[in-house]
Formats: sequence, structure tokens, C-alpha cells
Amino acid sequence: MTEQIGVVMVMPTRADKFSFGLWTVGWRARDPFGDPTRPELDVVEAVHRLAELGAYGITFHDDDVFPFDAPESERGRRIERLRKALTEAELEVPMVTTNLFTHPVFKDGGFTSNDRSVRRFALRKVLRNVELAAELGARTYVLWGGREGSEYDTAKDVRAALDRYQEALNLLTQFVIDRGYELRFAIEPKPNEPRGDILLPTVGHALAFIATLEHSDLVGVNPEVGHEQMAGLNYAHGIAQALWQGKLFHLDLNGQRGIKFDQDLVFGHGDLMNAFALVDLLENGGPGGGPAYEGPRHFDYKPSRTEDITGVWDSAAANMRTYLLLKRRAAAFRADPEVRQVLSDAGVPALSTPTLDPGEGYEGILTDSTFDADAAATRGYGFVRLNQLALEHLLGAR
Ligand code: GCO
Ligand code: MN
Ligand code: MN
Repeated sequence: MTEQIGVVMVMPTRADKFSFGLWTVGWRARDPFGDPTRPELDVVEAVHRLAELGAYGITFHDDDVFPFDAPESERGRRIERLRKALTEAELEVPMVTTNLFTHPVFKDGGFTSNDRSVRRFALRKVLRNVELAAELGARTYVLWGGREGSEYDTAKDVRAALDRYQEALNLLTQFVIDRGYELRFAIEPKPNEPRGDILLPTVGHALAFIATLEHSDLVGVNPEVGHEQMAGLNYAHGIAQALWQGKLFHLDLNGQRGIKFDQDLVFGHGDLMNAFALVDLLENGGPGGGPAYEGPRHFDYKPSRTEDITGVWDSAAANMRTYLLLKRRAAAFRADPEVRQVLSDAGVPALSTPTLDPGEGYEGILTDSTFDADAAATRGYGFVRLNQLALEHLLGAR
């Protein structure tokens, strides 16, 4: 056996469309048990460093750029500072979002707070920031309802809360239509944390909710790796269904190890096999084997609390490097003739053949007497062999 030792060179470029939330690298690592472990990071520095590392864009909450209670002049000054840095660094703002969770006023939620005056304030906060998002050329506006939920079943009328959520989305979509903004909304599901239970907890719940909206064409999902995995769900499957429904407007990449608190690890530092399947789907799952998703590859991770500022930039770079390595491994997997054969033996491409003949209806199914269940049951699908091939490509063994 010969072994090659060397470092695979992959350098992120703008064409890879990597983006980061300002709140990711800017996280000071305060957690419920401990104080911050890092000093504040200036947004201008964050923009320049991310550009140097190869990102093409940044995203932010209103409160990441200007304080919650900033007077107009201060708000304007902070936005101008950011705008200047973006121009210098040649970075885009593909997505913007709102902080409806930090200030104590949102302790029972924003759009679905039991307090009507809070709901009206939350809408105003979002509307103002949608204006800014449009001004900065963002195409996606994310809505993560981390405080929309409850700890106690008696405390929230879930059907009324969904009415209010729907009312909010109907207002927001009407706003972008009336203003002529080229902006679509993406709901980010999460099962829990910070609330005991969050409304629209999974991709599936969000998709079902979206179908009820007045302008449902303007609303999609922003699924996050860790959030689906916190619910024990398969992220790549969720993404596949969102794609299938034309609803994958944006995505949050990170890592999570099992059903526990939201770890926000570096992409690939959790379920690596699922990350491989995801990148393969995004990059090779489209028509003719091309990309299935053209939007930003957005990282929503947290540099671990143990890291100093060097660790912050190392971890930011790690997200992009892992994505690109997985992209290379997925390309090798797809190009391997043995993989093609095993895929074919496993019946994977055969699933694309419609179950009915052209023009056939239930009569054809009812009168089909050729099937031998016992014979069909003897088939082995070879899925394990296929998965081992995937793993060997992932490990660089092929
Ligand atoms: C979380 C969420 C947030 C959102 C962000 C964008 O679990 O804290 O993932 O990071 O993505 O607020 O709206
Ligand atoms: Mn998260
Ligand atoms: Mn997120």
C-alpha cells in the first residue's frame, strides 16, 4: 500500500459564494454559564478578514450593525461605515435578518407575542430592516423565530399564534410587492432553544405553513444543519424536499453532534457523512448532474468558546475548506465508474422511472398479473457496498 502525504490545496474564491453572518465570527462566546472569552470584533475588521479568506458576502441582523436603541443619526453612521467597508472589500450582502430575540421585550416572541403592542413593534423593526436590506441589494430576508414559542402548553394558543405568524408574513410580502423590492423571505426552522418549544420547528412544519400564505411564492425556507439534527432529522433529506418544492431560498451550514443543544460547530465537524451527502446534492444533484442550488453557501456557526481571535479566523476558513474538500470528494464519487455500476445495481437511477406506463391508470395496475413477490423479495440492493464506496471517497481512499 502506498500512501501519499500532502495537503490538498483548495482556495475559496468569490465564485464559491461563501457567506458568513457577522454574528458568527463576531460572537464573543458568552454562554448561559460563562462570560465572554473574546473581545468585541469590529464589523469593519470582520468584513476585511472574511474577504481576505475568500468569502463573497456577509449577512447581519440589524442589531449586529447598530445598537437596538440607536438614534437615527447613529444608525445612519453605522450603516455608512459598513457600506464603506463592503465597497473596499468588494463584498456583497446577499441576506439580511432581524434580531427579534435579544432584547427582553421579545421574551414571549415577536410576531407571536401574547402582547399585541410587542407584535406591532416587532413588525416595525422588521419593516425598517427590510428597507435597509433592499437598499444594500440583499435578495433574501431570513426570519428565524427563536422566541416564537413557549415553555408551557397552557401559555400559548398555538392556532392563534399561527394566525399571527401568517398575518405577519402576509404584511411583509405585501410590503416588498408594494415597494417593488426584489426580496424573498426565508423562514428558518428550529425545534427549541431559546424557547422550550419553537413554532415551525422543522423544515416540514415551515413548508406546510408557507402553503397557507397569501404570497407563498415569496416565502421559502432557510434550513440549518444543526437545527434539523437537533430534532433527530436528516438534514440532506430536508434540503432535498425543500429543493423539490422549489423552496430552498437560502441555507445555514454548520455542524452538530446529535440531539442536544445547538452546537453551531464548523461545517463537517458533526455528521460528516450527512455533510458529504449534502454537498453532493447541492453540487451534483441538479439536472444533468450540475448544481441543484445556486444561492449563497452561508455559514452560521460559532467559533468555540475555547478559541482566541486566531481560532476565530481558523474556524471561519475551516468551514470553507471543508465545503470545498467535500465538493472534490463528491465529484470523485460521481466520476468513479464502479460507483456508477453500484448505483445502477442498487436501483438508484431506476427510481426516476415513473411507476405507471404513459397513459396508464389504476386499471393497468389492477390487471397486472406478472409480478412474483417471492422472486422480487430475493433481490439484494447492495446499499451497504454503495455507502462504503461513498465513505472511501470521503476518506480519500479512492
Ligand atoms: C440560532 C439561529 C440564528 C439565526 C439568525 C438568522 O440558532 O441562533 O441559527 O443564528 O440563523 O438569527 O436569523
Ligand atoms: Mn443555530
Ligand atoms: Mn441559523
